[in-house]
Amino acid sequence: MRRFAARAHAKVNLHLGVGDRRADGYHDLVTVFQSLSLSDTVRLDVDDDDRVTSGSIVAGLTVAGLDAASVPTDSSNLAWRAVDKLVDYYRANHALSDAPRVAIHINKGIPTAGGMAGGSADAAAALVAAHAMFSGTCPALPMDTLSEIAAGLGSDVPFTLRGGTMLGTGRGEQLTPMLSRGTYHWALAFFTEGLSTPKVFHQLDFLRSGGSTNVPPSLDTGELARALTTGDPRQLAAAMTNDLQIPALTLRHDIGYVRTAGMNAGALASMVSGSGPTVAFLCSSELHARDVLDDLLADGSAYSGTVAHGPAKGAHLIY
Ligand code: C5P
Repeated sequence: MRRFAARAHAKVNLHLGVGDRRADGYHDLVTVFQSLSLSDTVRLDVDDDDRVTSGSIVAGLTVAGLDAASVPTDSSNLAWRAVDKLVDYYRANHALSDAPRVAIHINKGIPTAGGMAGGSADAAAALVAAHAMFSGTCPALPMDTLSEIAAGLGSDVPFTLRGGTMLGTGRGEQLTPMLSRGTYHWALAFFTEGLSTPKVFHQLDFLRSGGSTNVPPSLDTGELARALTTGDPRQLAAAMTNDLQIPALTLRHDIGYVRTAGMNAGALASMVSGSGPTVAFLCSSELHARDVLDDLLADGSAYSGTVAHGPAKGAHLIY
């Protein structure tokens, strides 16, 4: 049996500006993604003796690690869908006639439904592992083609595939690399219960339609781009924005308490990560991040968490 494993990283949105809801239900975004050291690993166990000529090549999927019990283990899992999408692409474009059956195993370090693109990272890692599995059988695909396949799986999958620091437009899938100097350190507070991304976007639409809360679209990333070129976490702290923060806070009051506790513990800035509920606390060093996290865990403000730094790499093959 051959094995392939790939790692993909979590993301934070250092800037998340959300425009109007589009006809297709998505929202136009102007966002700055940065990948973090926190990661998931996806392994494919390949049975070359069991050949599949049509339909899914995935025999099953298992999950271990953080929040494993809440991750779907059927064909709705994005890693499963990623493997099938790549096979479909090779069948349609390179006359792939048969492929080996694979079992998928995911090891999770990224919280599920936490606003850190955990599911997207799994899809990106599965794409990279499956792409390696086909090397020698099918042509290697350029990053642009892999990114297109990734975009069909979810808005954040192209970014988790590429990693680093990127400006994201469209629904977040159109990427342009950005300059980011230095390394930024974070304390991350996790929650037992996740938040549904569509629900948070819907809450933003609701708040805007009622006019009760002023959440204008933050479409200018200039200040953040300048802050990133300094490598100074204090400047970054002053420039971060997330239009989904108020909607997430109005849906889940527990997020607000954790934010306050982290700021009182000395963090430079706190921000809901993506659609939440994970709260990312920007700190001045790794030691500082550990101190903030220790305080949050010691007083019970956060039930679990970790420290992480960014930017990190895109999805990459381990073996
Ligand atoms: O693309 P993805 O499947 O990750 O998106 C999940 C959901 O998040 C979408 O169905 C939509 O409700 C919301 N979304 C959005 N605008 C975006 C990205 C996601 O409204 N740009």
